[in-house]
Amino acid sequence: MNTTTTIPVHRTTESRLTGLDINNLPFGKVPADHLFIARYSGGEWREARIEPFHKLTLSPFSLCFHYGQTVFEGMKAFRMENGSISIFRLQKHHERFNRSLERMGMPDIPYELFREGMRQLIELDSQWVPSGKDTSLYIRPFVIATEEKLGVKISDEYLFLIVCTPVGAYYARPLRVKVETEFIRAADGGTGFAKCGGNYGGAFLPTQRAVADGFDQVLWTDAQNREFIEESGTMNIMFLIDNILITPALSATILDGVTRDSILQLARARGIKIQERKVSIRELESALQSGTRAEAFGAGTAAVVAPIESITIGAETYGCYVEEDAVMFSFKRELQALRTGKADDTWGWNEVIPV
Ligand code: COI
Repeated sequence: MNTTTTIPVHRTTESRLTGLDINNLPFGKVPADHLFIARYSGGEWREARIEPFHKLTLSPFSLCFHYGQTVFEGMKAFRMENGSISIFRLQKHHERFNRSLERMGMPDIPYELFREGMRQLIELDSQWVPSGKDTSLYIRPFVIATEEKLGVKISDEYLFLIVCTPVGAYYARPLRVKVETEFIRAADGGTGFAKCGGNYGGAFLPTQRAVADGFDQVLWTDAQNREFIEESGTMNIMFLIDNILITPALSATILDGVTRDSILQLARARGIKIQERKVSIRELESALQSGTRAEAFGAGTAAVVAPIESITIGAETYGCYVEEDAVMFSFKRELQALRTGKADDTWGWNEVIPV
């Protein structure tokens, strides 16, 4: 399809905004008024349109219900100081979306379709972008396999949707995490680097057990020896030890986080020493035991920077530094300033929609 043409829009006649406080909503519960949808069949994306938010009618035979061909992205748009809207790192998210789709044998999304669909949707729902502290419009592009067949096969038909929801802070307080050594999240050659539904579904039971034991999240370890730290729940993990920013290097089992990448670039520009490498449980434990100031945090689109207040390794629990002057919070502030136009976007990360 020609994606440069204007996408047909069917506007809602009754906005659900009236009477809603979009600066105080639980994460991911209230959809904005409209959605973007396109259909894939016969080898191409077609019928792209914007419609009032609605439920989907799908055959129970749709392949997405059975064999897990589902891929999503998580993005954010911010209300800028001058009233405009900035979508954060649209191009990088698009590239990752296509890498995930490729791994799951699904058709890629042309950049113009992704960008134009999202821009026009957010322009139409611009009133849904909140302006309160730590708020944003969370954007969820996703693709599902819709061919109707119970036979195990790669789907020939798909839907691509973009839905949005106003959100505030993802976590209310610093996290208590445990190093997980029974279950794993991803193995070499698997789908760990992709944002596919199964990666999240497989994490629920271990996380539920950790929560039952009083933790908020798990720190995933490698599939082979349960020796190296990989990720923190649904986020990348970062440590600041002895003024060095340390994070596991990207691999087939680690998501190429956009927040992770952005923090690394900000840190590099400040002259902070960075190490992207394997981080063993033993190394982490001896750093935590030594009593040096150690910061640990999750980096992800939803939470941005999620401070970790304690890490439990086996029977031992160690505290991490989560005071106001911790360096991790300065990354969060710097990102916030850049996204809202308080600081210059020297990186070219903002996709601005003038309002
Ligand atoms: C993110 O922080 O980017 C995530 O993927 C979390 C999301 C699944 C809510």
